[in-house]
Amino acid sequence: MVKNTFYLNKTTADQLGTGLFKYSLVPKERFIICNTTLCEMLNYPNKTELKKKRLGDFFANLNDRDNFFGSLRKDGQVKFFETIFKDNENKTIWVMISACKVTTPGNGEYVEGIIENVDSRKEMERNLSLEQDLLQGALDSIPDAIYFKDLENRIIKVNKFYAKGVGLKPTEIVGKTDYDFFPEDQARQMATDDQGVIETGVPIVGKIERTLLPDGTWNQVITTKIPIYDRLGETAGTMGVTRDMTAYANMERERLTMLVNTLKVLGKALEMRDPYTFSHTRCVATIAEKISGVLQWDENRMLGMRLAGELHDLGKIGIPLDILNKPGKLNNLEYGLIREHVGNCYNLIKDIKFPFPLAETIYQHHERLDGSGYPRKLPANKILPEARILAVSDVLEAMTHHRPYREALGVNAAMAELNEGVGTKYDGDIVKIVSQLLKANHNKPFWLDD
Ligand SMILES: [Fe+2]
Ligand SMILES: [Fe+2]
Repeated sequence: MVKNTFYLNKTTADQLGTGLFKYSLVPKERFIICNTTLCEMLNYPNKTELKKKRLGDFFANLNDRDNFFGSLRKDGQVKFFETIFKDNENKTIWVMISACKVTTPGNGEYVEGIIENVDSRKEMERNLSLEQDLLQGALDSIPDAIYFKDLENRIIKVNKFYAKGVGLKPTEIVGKTDYDFFPEDQARQMATDDQGVIETGVPIVGKIERTLLPDGTWNQVITTKIPIYDRLGETAGTMGVTRDMTAYANMERERLTMLVNTLKVLGKALEMRDPYTFSHTRCVATIAEKISGVLQWDENRMLGMRLAGELHDLGKIGIPLDILNKPGKLNNLEYGLIREHVGNCYNLIKDIKFPFPLAETIYQHHERLDGSGYPRKLPANKILPEARILAVSDVLEAMTHHRPYREALGVNAAMAELNEGVGTKYDGDIVKIVSQLLKANHNKPFWLDD
């Protein structure tokens, strides 16, 4: 015999905001007890009317009904079972049921449980998932890699473009870090950038990087990273947008190559006229390029350095050969003419656009740190690193090369001149690099190896 009682008294049960029920399964399915809240929830005018129904009648989905009763019979309980009920007016309502089965000594079976109306929560969840779908849809339609990371640089969310780039599904990427996809040195740099953005709150905008993709191809990208904040305004991580610029970079490189080849034709013209200057500029270019390599400059900047070396004396094309190759000492007039080569070259190339300061570097290659150089007597803080390298490379090559008016002076004499001029004429860091490069090459001109 199933007792017609609950462990709560009737008033308390009716005042609860949750639907309560006691329901007989065996010998006969029927409601034994239900509270007022359940009646109101299911739109019944009173308990008597509700009790005429069977629990299974309320399930809008028959599969859900069978699963609910199946679990109840098998496990003896069901927790937080979410389903749709149809109320007295056939309107649907999301409910969550928790119930347990009780067997009585007389082989009767009944269920006690609670039913909660979760319609508003479901509505919120629907809105939230709609918002998420809209956001994901928007992110996925953008042909840039977009990614969100937490404070430990772990990926929280990515768009399709990012996932395609690393060859995984977006969900498989969550929780991973850049170390899972990129070579260690690149991943370390990315993590440093992320941490910098988190710690300072200052975004990184338009950083150009070369990245090695998991499929082994290199690409050139431009990246922007910004901090993201939670509802309380606390930093929650970073968001990054990376655009693949490889095609554009390749076009730019082709344009540059064409330009460089055109300029090399000018160099050839100089060679035909004055073979000494040509071999000098080639060697200076090699020295300057090697120094910039030690400084780990990027590809473009190194190209600019090489080109500056090759073209730095191009302005001599306008100087009479008998002055250029005069065996004796030059008079003031002749020396003045020679000095014009920097301005000549500057004027020749200053209007051509390069991604490096080519014309200015050449213009400055006879400037000296103490302001004693020419043509503008620039002070140290106005002299470009490129021009400092060019100055050192120029002196090193010129002094170790045979000239019409003197024998080659040798590496030791050139290094003595450079060391003596450190701080006044030449940049000490660059002189040091040259000294190391020479040492590594047994004190022989390393620029002749190529
Ligand atoms: Fe020069
Ligand atoms: Fe030179």
